Amino acid sequence: MSDNAGVTKSLLLATSMAVVGSTFQFGYNTGVINAPQKTIEQFFNLTYITRVETISRQQKNLMSHAFQHASSPTPLVTAVGGMIGSLCAGFAADRYGLKKPMLYNNFTAILAALLMGFSKLAGSFEMLIIGRFIIGINSGINMGIAPMYLTEIAPVKYRGVFGTLGQLGVVTSMLLSQVLGLRWLLGTSTLWPLLLALTGVFAVYQLAVIPFCPESPRFLLVKMNKEDEAREALQWLRGSHYNSKEEMNQMSSEHEAGKDEQKTTIKELFTVSHLRQPLIIAIVMQLSQQLSGINAVFYYSTQLFLAAGIPQEYTGLTTVGVGIVNVIMTIVSLSLIEHAGRRILHLIGLGGMCVCSILLVVLLNLQRTVVISWLTLVPILLFVAFFQTGPGSIPWFITAELFNQSARPAAVSIAGLVNWLGNFTIGLAYPSINAEIGGYTFIIFAVLLAIFWIFTYFRVPETKGK
Ligand code: GLC
Repeated sequence: MSDNAGVTKSLLLATSMAVVGSTFQFGYNTGVINAPQKTIEQFFNLTYITRVETISRQQKNLMSHAFQHASSPTPLVTAVGGMIGSLCAGFAADRYGLKKPMLYNNFTAILAALLMGFSKLAGSFEMLIIGRFIIGINSGINMGIAPMYLTEIAPVKYRGVFGTLGQLGVVTSMLLSQVLGLRWLLGTSTLWPLLLALTGVFAVYQLAVIPFCPESPRFLLVKMNKEDEAREALQWLRGSHYNSKEEMNQMSSEHEAGKDEQKTTIKELFTVSHLRQPLIIAIVMQLSQQLSGINAVFYYSTQLFLAAGIPQEYTGLTTVGVGIVNVIMTIVSLSLIEHAGRRILHLIGLGGMCVCSILLVVLLNLQRTVVISWLTLVPILLFVAFFQTGPGSIPWFITAELFNQSARPAAVSIAGLVNWLGNFTIGLAYPSINAEIGGYTFIIFAVLLAIFWIFTYFRVPETKGK
């Protein structure tokens, strides 16, 4: 193994380019809608009602009711965009590599930022919806490409750490959006368009830095057979004193082994038996992440805290508290991933989340007192903490580890699609299930988590160092 490969300034620059420019987009836009939700609802309402001045009062009431829910579909619109984006990611990575799709994807982010940023001025909620849809496409592409880029530029022994750095980007930017979205910062009725538009800043950062960063050496050699360019890229990443021979040899042997292999199609992933096994694992890992219920917390934390009896004026702060735990635990996971391995961290995460879901159900159904209300915060925070020990980051990069170069892009597309589908399902189903069974909703997540735990225990292999 190329154990002499270390972390250089160039590697860090390329890493920051992918983390800030790509994974930040996803995290920021996941977190940003939570705090100013009410204000945005009012914007939907007012804009619509002023437009249809002429309709009857009864119709207006109906419209107002429909649009009260119209900003809740914003995570849904983004998730639909995400599905499209993740399908594009595999196709683009296979054809153009990783750098070019990342580069051009910034223009979708800038377009989305402009649409969202000017929606209020233009009195158009359609612009906001289209902007959220486009940022979904952007995030789908980013979350397909960036984790692949990060794991491919990393020295093998740090691959898990670099994969987890992607998730650290997601949670850091999520926290940033939660803090900026507070009522006394940008979460006001006049400033929310700016809050949404700030996502363009990450695109500008990536556009400025990406010209200095190389394409993934692995893509250059294994896929394009460009040996000199691959060596040059590797040397840039590892430093001029690095002896790249061994790492180049490893990639060359992968190239030789895969030379006669045709590019794997999406259909083959499902039909060829030795590909179907890892595909099922990749899919279930993604489902375990999304159907764990994590985004029920992130999209609807305000409602969850209110249901627990926490006073309205503290819900912004408690949401930020969740964001802080999110970041801290991702850092903890980062330091454990190469020692403990993926499997065990995923098992600890799912198991812990399952127990916390049960605890949450118990507390939500006890007689409400001030103490019980605040105590409910404990399983919510622990739920998030356990999520970040493994289920938060591992599903995003394990697909790249389970497949070789010829099948990787197709597999990443499918895995990404499943992730967004799960994301969409929770965004859609949670509010109505919660309206029906309230405090018992998390029982469903507990059962699902137990099933995913059993699957992981029996079927998921350890990919550390492989
Ligand atoms: C992961 C999930 C995402 C979730 C986030 C929370 O990145 O993919 O859906 O919102 O973690 O930290």
